[in-house]
Amino acid sequence: MAAQPVIKVAGVCGSLREASWHRGLLHAAMEICKDSIKGIEFEYVDISTLPFMNEDLEVNGTYPDAVEDFRKKIEEADCFLFASPEYNYSVTAPLKNAIDWASRPPNVWADKVAAIVSAGGNFGGGRSHYHLRQIGIFIDVHFINKPELFVWAFESPPKFDSDGVLTDEETKQRLKGVLLALQSFTLRLKGKSE
Ligand SMILES: Cc1cc2nc3c(=O)[nH]c(=O)nc-3n(C[C@H](O)[C@H](O)[C@H](O)COP(=O)(O)O)c2cc1C
Repeated sequence: MAAQPVIKVAGVCGSLREASWHRGLLHAAMEICKDSIKGIEFEYVDISTLPFMNEDLEVNGTYPDAVEDFRKKIEEADCFLFASPEYNYSVTAPLKNAIDWASRPPNVWADKVAAIVSAGGNFGGGRSHYHLRQIGIFIDVHFINKPELFVWAFESPPKFDSDGVLTDEETKQRLKGVLLALQSFTLRLKGKSE
């Protein structure tokens, strides 16, 4: 039997907050990939060092060092897991900034698969998903449709501890479902599914 291909997932967090729930979701995803899913290499990709998008920082087709490093990680990934908080019914400014940098020529998001997870108020951050999906049209990212994961983080019981670590077992199971769908769609797009 052929060995199962290994795919690289880049985890991108839209919050810069130290005890971020969204970073907690990505760390939990990393643990799940290590412990109970075969064939996924998960890398957390930091966006906190990126400057604000400014075309004046582009010199003869090159970008600032932090941007080049970020773009390389995005280029090397097979697919993406966005942990996307909802700020005022949309995606956060840091996330949009990161997306914009990696969309500059050549657009390194293009033709890859992505999934979105979020935590928040009464829609669990869900409105950010639909704005992100719209952005995905232009940058040519193919989002999985289901399952969707919106964590109702302000409802009890608590889903995260005070450091932003995901503690809720049901949410972990749902997160695993998102990762499996992301893996399966990525392999299909790469023509490597059974
Ligand atoms: C500027 C701002 C706008 C926000 N707008 C929304 C919103 O529209 N909907 C929502 O559910 N939560 C909103 N929140 C609350 C976030 O969901 C909450 O701060 C969450 O913890 C952010 O994710 P993090 O823990 O990863 O930083 C907002 C928070 C900030 C700072």
